[in-house]
Amino acid sequence: VRDLRDLARKNGIRIGSAVDAAVLRSEADYRRVLNREFTHLTAENAMKWESVEPERGVFTWDDADAVVENARRNGQQVRGHTLIWHNQLPAWLTSGVADGSIGPAELRTILRDHIRTQVGRYKGKIRAWDVANEVVDDEGNLRQSIWLEHLGPGYLADAFRWARQADPRAKLYLNDYNVEWNQGKIDRYLALVKELQAQRVPIDGMGFQGHLGIQYDYPAGWADVMRSFADLGLEIAVTEMDVRMVLPVTPEKLATQAEYYSRALADCLSVKACREFTVWGFTDRHSWVPGWFEGEGAACILDEDLRPKPAYHALLATR
Ligand code: XIL
Repeated sequence: VRDLRDLARKNGIRIGSAVDAAVLRSEADYRRVLNREFTHLTAENAMKWESVEPERGVFTWDDADAVVENARRNGQQVRGHTLIWHNQLPAWLTSGVADGSIGPAELRTILRDHIRTQVGRYKGKIRAWDVANEVVDDEGNLRQSIWLEHLGPGYLADAFRWARQADPRAKLYLNDYNVEWNQGKIDRYLALVKELQAQRVPIDGMGFQGHLGIQYDYPAGWADVMRSFADLGLEIAVTEMDVRMVLPVTPEKLATQAEYYSRALADCLSVKACREFTVWGFTDRHSWVPGWFEGEGAACILDEDLRPKPAYHALLATR
C-alpha cells in the first residue's frame, strides 16, 4: 500500500479529508498532498450557512465552489457539510429569530429555501449531504436549537424531504459526535431513524464524526454501533476523524494515536455499509483542535511539515 489513495482503492472505500478553502488557495504543498492522498473532500467551513449567506440574500459561494472544483479536477467525491446546525449560523438569522422579526412561518420558509438553494446549486456534485448535524444532545434528547424551538421536531422530516427534492441522487445523512460510545445518544438516534423511516422520510446514512482523544479509552463498541445503524438499512461514514492528545507530544502518545486511527479504520472496514473514512484535516499545520481544546493538539496524521506521523503509517497497514 503506497498511500491513502492506494489504501482506499484496495479496500473499496473512500478516504477523505476536511479542506480549508483559504489554505487550499494559498499553500501549494497542502494542495499537492491533499490531492495525492484523498479521494473524498469535505469543506471544513465553506459550506456552513454563515459562510454561504453572511447577509440575508447575499450569497458567497467562492470558497465552497473552490472545494467542489478541486474535487472535480482531481477525481474526488464531496461530502456537503452541513445544511442544518445550531452553530455557525449567520447573525442575521439568529438575531432575527431572537428579536422576533423572523417568526416561525418565515423561519420555515427560510430553511426550505436555504436547503433548496444550496443543494440545488451543487446538484450532481455532492455524493452525500450532512443534512442535519448534531441534532441530539449528550443527554439523548433532541438538541435545543432555533429549529426545534420554533419549528418543532418535524423540521427534521421536512429538511430531509426538501434535500431529496433538490438532489434526488445525493445520499442524505445525520451526523454527530459521541455516537461512537454514548449509549443515550445512540439509542435516541436509532429511535429517530426508525421514526423517520416510518414516516417515509428519505434518510440514507449515519455519520460518525469520530473526534477522539487518547486520554480517553478507545470506544471499543464502535463497530457494533455502526452495525446497529447499518441494520436499519443505512450506510455509514466516519466523517470527521481526529485523535487529539494533551501536549506535549511524546513518542508514546504518537503510538497510541496511531493505534486509535488504525482501530477506527479497522472498525469501518469490518462493517460492510461503512464506505467512507474522512479525517477532519490531514495536517497538524491546520487543525481545529488547538483552538478548541485548551492544551491539546497534534490530532492529525501528518505533522506541521506534512511529514507522515505514525498514525499515517498505521492507516496504511490496517486491514
Ligand atoms: C469546526 C471547524 O473545524 C473550525 O474551523 C470552526 O471554527 C468550527 O467548526 N463538528 C463539526 C464541524 O461538525 O463542522 C466542526 O468544525 C468540528 C466539530
